[in-house]
Amino acid sequence: RAPKPLAAGNWKMNGLKASSSEIADLAARLKAAPAGCDVLICPPFTLVASLADAAAGTSVAIGAQDCHAKASGAHTGDVSAPMLADSGASFVIVGHSERRADHGETDADVAAKAAAVQAAGLPVIICVGETEAERVAGREVEIVSGQLAGSIPADIDTDRLVIAYEPVWAIGTGRTPSAADVEAIHGAIREKLVARFGAAAGSMIRILYGGSVKPDNAKELMSVANVNGALVGGASLKAADFDAIIGAW
Ligand code: G3H
Repeated sequence: RAPKPLAAGNWKMNGLKASSSEIADLAARLKAAPAGCDVLICPPFTLVASLADAAAGTSVAIGAQDCHAKASGAHTGDVSAPMLADSGASFVIVGHSERRADHGETDADVAAKAAAVQAAGLPVIICVGETEAERVAGREVEIVSGQLAGSIPADIDTDRLVIAYEPVWAIGTGRTPSAADVEAIHGAIREKLVARFGAAAGSMIRILYGGSVKPDNAKELMSVANVNGALVGGASLKAADFDAIIGAW
C-alpha cells in the first residue's frame, strides 16, 4: 500500500481577488479530466476564505501557508489555526524555508505550529530541506534528520501529517536535484519516519518533493521512489501549468 499522491500549490505572497479565476479554471480542468492525486492550493491568508468558497464542491482543496502556535490572543498581525479552519482551510503548511529564513522560525517553533494545526482538526504539511552550503558539504541527510526530529511534535497524528522535502537551493531557481539524489534523501526521510512511527504508520506518511517542479520535470521527479507528491511554488500560480504537473499521475 502506498499513500495517495498530493499535488500542493503554494502561492506564497501572490494572488488577488481576481485569482479566483485560476481556481475555477483548475476545478473545471479536473472535472473534465479527474486527477490521480489529491489537489491542494495554498493562497495567502487574504484569499483563504473566498477561495475555499469558490472551490467548495470541487476536487480542489484550499489550505494556508503558516499559522500562529496559539489559538487566539494578543498577537497583532498573526492568524491562528482555528481561524484558518473556520475560513475553510483544509490543510496548513508550516516550517517553509522562507518562514525559517525570513522570520527566524526554529524547529521548536515549527513543532508548536504543527501541533496547533492538528489541535484545530487539520492536517499539517511540515517542510524541511538543506541549504546549498549544507548540500555541498554532504550534510543534507544530517540536516533534514535534525529538522524532522525537531519539527514533528511529540503527539503528532501521523494520519494527518505530510512532510515536504524542499532543498532551499532548488526553490525558485530552476535547478533540481537529480532523480538519484531525490531518491536518496526521500529514502532517508522514509527511514526516519519508519524508525519513529513504525512501519505501518511511517510508510503511509506522504513525502512531497518541492523546488522548481515544472510541467516538464514533474513526471520524472514524481516517479522516484518515496516521492508521494509535489509542493509547487511558481508553477502553481497558473491553472494550466499546475494541471500539467497534476498530469504526472
Ligand atoms: O513551496 C514551494 C516551494 O518553495 C517551491 O517553489 O516551485 O517556485 O521552486 P518553486
